[in-house]
Amino acid sequence: MLDLTIRRATAADADGIADLIAAIEPDKLVSEISREERRDRFREYLGAGINAAFLAESGGRLVGELTLALGGPDPTRLGFSVHPDFRRRGVATKLLQHGIAWADANDIHKLTAEVMTHNAGALALLQELGFAEEGYLVNQFRRKSGGANDAVLLARMRL
Ligand SMILES: CC(C)(COP(=O)(O)OP(=O)(O)OC[C@H]1O[C@@H](n2cnc3c(N)ncnc32)[C@H](O)[C@@H]1OP(=O)(O)O)[C@@H](O)C(=O)NCCC(=O)NCCS
Repeated sequence: MLDLTIRRATAADADGIADLIAAIEPDKLVSEISREERRDRFREYLGAGINAAFLAESGGRLVGELTLALGGPDPTRLGFSVHPDFRRRGVATKLLQHGIAWADANDIHKLTAEVMTHNAGALALLQELGFAEEGYLVNQFRRKSGGANDAVLLARMRL
């Protein structure tokens, strides 16, 4: 059983979050921005309260993140990632359960996620946690290699 703690991120975590996301397979990342650009965005958005993020740590190591782009009163969009060495041990499930509970407690009426069509793992996970497909987004995420990938829009309403 993985020893896991979950805590709210601050702007001071931007470097660690950028390092974690740099370890994720590029074809699963919706935004192909540089590590530095990602760090700067996290620092700015977390500092300004535009985003809220939750971090999963094991043995003092950052192993997963869940980020909510707060849209209030519009829907809040989420993104998440788990380090490849810590997959299939419930880290993303715990982060999402935490984030959903936080959203419910903070009067967020709708959570959305945009997942690329080939990302079967993330699609399965979100559906297991009560997200339903709401739409198909053509050419949603640009690729450095050229073109853009389609995505599925999923959403979960507050119960
Ligand atoms: C998707 C991702 C976050 C899952 O993290 P994780 O910690 O491994 O997920 P969990 O262990 O909580 O998985 C829970 C369930 O989700 C489903 N699931 C997770 N990954 C899966 C995969 N690769 N294929 C199929 N189902 C998967 C399974 O039902 C799994 O339960 P099981 O392990 O008992 O079969 C992780 O693979 C990742 O970081 N991927 C790259 C980034 C990404 O895709 N982010 C989401 C898009 S915004």
